[in-house]
This record gives sequence, C-alpha cells and structure tokens, in this order.
Amino acid sequence: MRFQDKVVIITGAAGGIGLAAVRRFASEGAHILAVDLEGSDLDAAIAEADPFGVKVFSQPADCSQASDVSAYVERCLDEFGRLDVLFNNAGIEGRIIGLMDYPEDDFDQVINVNLRGVWLGMKYSGPAMIANGGGSIVNTASTAGLLGARGLSAYVASKHGVVGLTKSAALELVPQGVRVNAVCPSPIETRMMRSLEQGFGGDQAEMIRKDLASRNPMGRYGEPDEVAALVAFLASDDASYINGGIYTVDGGSVNGR
Ligand SMILES: NC(=O)c1ccc[n+]([C@@H]2O[C@H](COP(=O)([O-])OP(=O)(O)OC[C@H]3O[C@@H](n4cnc5c(N)ncnc54)[C@H](O)[C@@H]3O)[C@@H](O)[C@H]2O)c1
Repeated sequence: MRFQDKVVIITGAAGGIGLAAVRRFASEGAHILAVDLEGSDLDAAIAEADPFGVKVFSQPADCSQASDVSAYVERCLDEFGRLDVLFNNAGIEGRIIGLMDYPEDDFDQVINVNLRGVWLGMKYSGPAMIANGGGSIVNTASTAGLLGARGLSAYVASKHGVVGLTKSAALELVPQGVRVNAVCPSPIETRMMRSLEQGFGGDQAEMIRKDLASRNPMGRYGEPDEVAALVAFLASDDASYINGGIYTVDGGSVNGR
C-alpha cells in the first residue's frame, strides 16, 4: 500500500489512461480527486475507486483554464487537507492535417490543453505540495514528445513541450521536495487511438491499427494499466531518487524497428 493515506489528483481521469490510474492508485490506498471536463463520465472514475474503500471525489475542470486548475487544487485541499501526487494526464490529439494547413485555432487548442494545462497543473499544485513537505508530479508526454509525426504537428509540439517543462520543473521544484517526471506512452488501447486510427485511415481504420501494432517490437498496443503501473512507480517513494526522468512505456518502439 504505497499510497496509504496519500492524496492524488488525476486529470483526464475519465479517459482510458486516467481510469486505469484511478484504479491503480486506489488499489494502493490513495484518496483521489478525479478531474476531467464538464460532461465527461466522471462517475466512471468514481466507480473505479469505490471498491477499494478510499475517498474519491470528482471535479469538472478544463485544465487549460487557470481558474479551473486553481479550483481543482482548492477543492482537493478542502476535501482532504493535503496533496501528495499530481498525475497531470489530460490531453487531446487535435486534428490530423499537414502543418501548412493546420487551422490556427486548432493548433492553439492543442497547445493550451496539452502544454499550458500541464504547466498550470504544476503551477497551482506545486505550492500545495511544498506546504505539505513535498510530493510528486507525473506528467503524461508521449513518444510523440521524442519523435516527429506527419500530420500531428500540434500534438507533437505540445508533447515535446511537456518533456521540456518536466525537465525544468524537476530542477526548480526538487529543492522543495517535489519530484517531477514524465511518461511517454506509444499507442495505448484508448479512445485517443481509435480517433487517430479513424483520422489516418477513415474506413481503413482497422488496417491502420494492425499496421501500427505490427510496427511495435512487441507486436501490439500497450494497455492503460501498463502506463498506470509506471506512473504509480514514479509517483511513489520507490522512485525517491528519480527526478526529471522521461520514461518510455512503448514496447521498445522508440528504439527503431
Ligand atoms: N492513447 C495513447 O495511445 C496515448 C499515447 C501517448 C500519450 N497519450 C496521452 O495520454 C493522456 C491520456 O490519454 P488517453 O489515451 O487516456 O485518451 P482519452 O481520450 O481516453 O483521455 C483523455 C482525457 O482527457 C480529458 N480532457 C481533454 N481535454 C481536457 C481538458 N481541457 N481539461 C480536462 N480534461 C480534458 C478527456 O475528456 C479525456 O477523458 C493524454 O495526455 C494523451 O495525449 C496517449
């Protein structure tokens, strides 16, 4: 029970990786504030944690808006009186379109959610953790934070930004007891990949899926639980000397084919 009596905020908690993280942290004793967009299925996040007998609350928030981010940190302190871990995970894939044709508003939205949202999460949760004697932040980047991808310039730029933010935050916050790391998943079985397969393949989406899976050295996509396991490790005291690390969870795909 690495997170007994600890308090964890999970953003994007109603999504595939978020739900797996709720389950994983709850199974290890954490109390949870599940954050996602208004109208998303936050009840599903509550249901994932319920069987473990921990306290779990949900907070609708748009992570790209400072007022929403500061409100979710406030809610956490009101409900639990402390904050130990932030899993800064909310994200969107954006449109699949060449960079010369990419609409400005869409580009801005991807950067605002994926990069600004991660920065805001650290900006507002950092002081709460420091007041508590320290904590741990895990940001969700992507293998798209390490490699380029045609048609996904905004997403790729945002995830490279998350990698850079993580490295800088790790230097700034660790003297005050807050470790910051990032995870870089390759394709994982969630809604986001269904959307990308559809975007790249249209009615050939299944072919795109098989092609992407076959290009992975392990011949498959990852499972959300496999990402959550790494996140929980990095957030825990087992990772007490790990700071500013950028960890792939990708079956080895960034190493080549
Ligand atoms: N699935 C993959 O293959 C994959 C690979 C690498 C990285 N990632 C990253 O993992 C994270 C989780 O993605 P997922 O695969 O679970 O996809 P998902 O679409 O299932 O989940 C994303 C969640 O983020 C929420 N969200 C979107 N915009 C938000 C906002 N402005 N404020 C608050 N919440 C918001 C969505 O409502 C959704 O519940 C994302 O950051 C994504 O970029 C996913």
